[in-house]
Amino acid sequence: MEVQSLTKSFGKHVAVNDLSFSIEEGHCVALLGANGAGKTTTLEMLASLQKPTKGSVSFLGVEKKDFREDIGYLPQYPVFFSWMNAMEYLVLMGELSGMSKAKAMARADELLELLGIADAKKRKIGGFSGGMKQRLGIAQALIHEPKLLMLDEPVSALDPVGRREILELMKLLKETTTILFSTHILHDAEEVCDDVIMIHKGELAVSGSLSELRRKHQEDVIVIAADENLDAWAGSIESWDVVSKVISANDKVEIYVKSVAEARTQLLAEINEKQLPITSFTVGQTSLEGLFMEVVGR
Ligand SMILES: Nc1ncnc2c1ncn2[C@@H]1O[C@H](COP(=O)(O)OP(=O)(O)OP(=O)(O)O)[C@@H](O)[C@H]1O
Ligand SMILES: [Mg+2]
Repeated sequence: MEVQSLTKSFGKHVAVNDLSFSIEEGHCVALLGANGAGKTTTLEMLASLQKPTKGSVSFLGVEKKDFREDIGYLPQYPVFFSWMNAMEYLVLMGELSGMSKAKAMARADELLELLGIADAKKRKIGGFSGGMKQRLGIAQALIHEPKLLMLDEPVSALDPVGRREILELMKLLKETTTILFSTHILHDAEEVCDDVIMIHKGELAVSGSLSELRRKHQEDVIVIAADENLDAWAGSIESWDVVSKVISANDKVEIYVKSVAEARTQLLAEINEKQLPITSFTVGQTSLEGLFMEVVGR
């Protein structure tokens, strides 16, 4: 999918501003941005649910206004007919997208199985848990075998168990389908996506492959936690050659370092010598969160 200068204004307010990006076949792409950044508006335009003020979208080389045949879409707040059962709902969605009843029924069976809700096939949707509804929402998005699956905040409303289940499901689906999903939970994005599109106030802020962004923006960091406040000590190591930045808050000190091996040796010696009451010593790398905060803070 090629998106060129996509723009959406509501009166004077520009929700999405001159956004251009592309999605490669077979990739799983995370659309990241804070609340109000324009994620839903962007996805709704791609799903032909909102008319762009400006810009064009082409899919597999063809420019069109309506790609609904090729796209499956899970809205941020899906609405179901609570009096229907799961099977009835999926068959209705299949028929609405132009499938014969027999074909829709066969496909619905297959999807209920794939999404792990086959047992609830004849149960009324009104009695479904949040996680089950989310699965059903993904099933309806897949009913017509779309080439691109778009999910708007598929895990944000779920508890940790439901969230884990949907993330695992996305990992399974990305083997066979191109996926574009929005989220503001960076950790989830890092877990499943290949590429990242970060938007801020409706504009493109950062985009690229996750591994490339990591290479460019990731830093080595050593985190030390202690029984007491280490502010004074943290200040004293700021001038070390191997240290690039120190952030001390409450009982935790984050030390950004130029060489993990060197810094570790020096820090452990120092902790020993000064008898610092540390409770943990962790060596790791910064996540996308740092980059996101940088973008949002602009
Ligand atoms: N129908 C509308 N009329 C007026 N303004 C709108 C409309 N829809 C969205 N907006 C505005 O456009 C901006 C982007 O909204 P959007 O829902 O796309 O953000 P989002 O990134 O999906 O946020 P969230 O993370 O909260 O879901 C917001 O400032 C919002 O108030
Ligand atoms: Mg939204």
